[in-house]
Amino acid sequence: MKIIPYQENFKLSKNNCRVFGIYEDEDLCSVEKKVKIYKVSVMKNIFKYSNWKENFGKTIFLHTNFQSKYDRIILINCGIKKNFQNNLFILIIKKLFLLFKENNIQNIYMNIYDFIFNKSKIYWKIRDIINISQDLFYSFKEYQSKIQKISFLKKIFIKINNEKDFLSCKKAILHGCAISKGVKFAKDISNIPSNICTPKYLVKKSKNLFKKYTNNIQVQLFNQNDIKNLRMNAFLAVSQGSCKKAYMSRMNYCHKNAINKNPIILIGKGVTFDSGGLSIKPSYMMDEMKYDMCGAAAVIGIMKFIVQSDLPLRVIGIIGTCENMINGNSLKPGDIIQTMSKKTVEILNTDAEGRLILCDLLTYAEKFDPMIVIDIATLTGSCVATLGNAASGLFSNSKILEKEIKKASKNIHDKIWSLPNFKIYKKYLKSNFADLLNIGGKYAGASTAAYFLSYFAKKYKWVHLDIAGTAWRTGKNKSATGQPVTLLCQYFLNLLKKNKL
Ligand code: BES
Ligand code: MN
Ligand code: ZN
Repeated sequence: MKIIPYQENFKLSKNNCRVFGIYEDEDLCSVEKKVKIYKVSVMKNIFKYSNWKENFGKTIFLHTNFQSKYDRIILINCGIKKNFQNNLFILIIKKLFLLFKENNIQNIYMNIYDFIFNKSKIYWKIRDIINISQDLFYSFKEYQSKIQKISFLKKIFIKINNEKDFLSCKKAILHGCAISKGVKFAKDISNIPSNICTPKYLVKKSKNLFKKYTNNIQVQLFNQNDIKNLRMNAFLAVSQGSCKKAYMSRMNYCHKNAINKNPIILIGKGVTFDSGGLSIKPSYMMDEMKYDMCGAAAVIGIMKFIVQSDLPLRVIGIIGTCENMINGNSLKPGDIIQTMSKKTVEILNTDAEGRLILCDLLTYAEKFDPMIVIDIATLTGSCVATLGNAASGLFSNSKILEKEIKKASKNIHDKIWSLPNFKIYKKYLKSNFADLLNIGGKYAGASTAAYFLSYFAKKYKWVHLDIAGTAWRTGKNKSATGQPVTLLCQYFLNLLKKNKL
């Protein structure tokens, strides 16, 4: 689907449809002037007999005659004008898209000012349209033999009446489409099952994806031996019960006009399947643990956005990937391991494996003297219990950074919520035999996991995003969501705007 802004006198494409947003408190004469196919008296009857009144989202489909330049016209009831907030705009656009699909409409024409007044910005309206279409029409049918081809909705033509709005619209399309590509990548790779999306597959993807762009980005892969030589024993302990080997990928992006000297580091948890290990998970919904690599998928998706948009930044993406499985060599409750930082950890639950991988990656990040570090992980069921799928959990050791990430989430549909890392959790993680326990007991699981990580992120500004509740949808429409790719891409765009570039 393509979005095309236009100003005046545009040659219409075939199989077209014009959408009109109509408000309940709009008078019929103005509707007649706008729609230009029926007289007021006829419009009155159409509304009367189609249950239009007080029916937000109601649509009327008009097949036009030769007097009209459009093949079809849709009127949609947008309610009372002064109540038309952004959440209603989103409902209207969703409803319209489903209608386009149902009726196989290929070329849409709409006047953006039907939906914009008050202080709402054209930029975010266009971003919303792109986002909704990408979300609504995404499907992952790679492994189904019958592939349905979707041919509806080729182009959306959006009428704009001044140069300033035209530029805003163009910018929104540029940003929205670039972010969409990163999101789609993250969704696709997350949806692939673990027998295909193995640790090796994941790191190879991270390398092959950037083959064309070797000027700005170098990708280095680390095999199990390399990881061992780095003394990432906690990471390797998770992997030791699997027949598949662990891998790490470092994607080093450096633009010649980078505004930051010290790199921004993104770290992703890439557990391609989390069985829980010997502290095995119940079988109900265990299939969803193929999604335990969504953090890593998001990191690659964000890197894709950065590279393709040629952002003047220095960013390093690091993913640690392995399986959490069971064999004769598995990690066992009670075992003590030494992390790369030299701190020792007593394992009480082998299902708390994400933090074991991340702690070593966080220590590894130190050597790049980073400006900031952001880790992304499907880390705790407790975060799902706390926030559901409404928001990702955010933990940070920097108020400023926390504020900036919050700001990035303001206008987009990729929300975050700050959770606490109270000092008291320190006690929860106290071990009789090692420096730390790998779990903090029954309560405040998302916070104790973050507290565990904070021990390894002392030397830089750090954000931890727990995406366990937001990275995928369960149930009938089960699928990865690509969160928090949009959030962090927006963070980078804001960062550049702040630096006036
Ligand atoms: N990958 C899971 C977290 C998870 C669980 C994400 C359910 C989404 C849905 C993680 O490795 C895990 O198993 N965490 C445990 C930690 C516990 C043993 C302290 C959890 O949250 O149950
Ligand atoms: Mn686990
Ligand atoms: Zn896990």
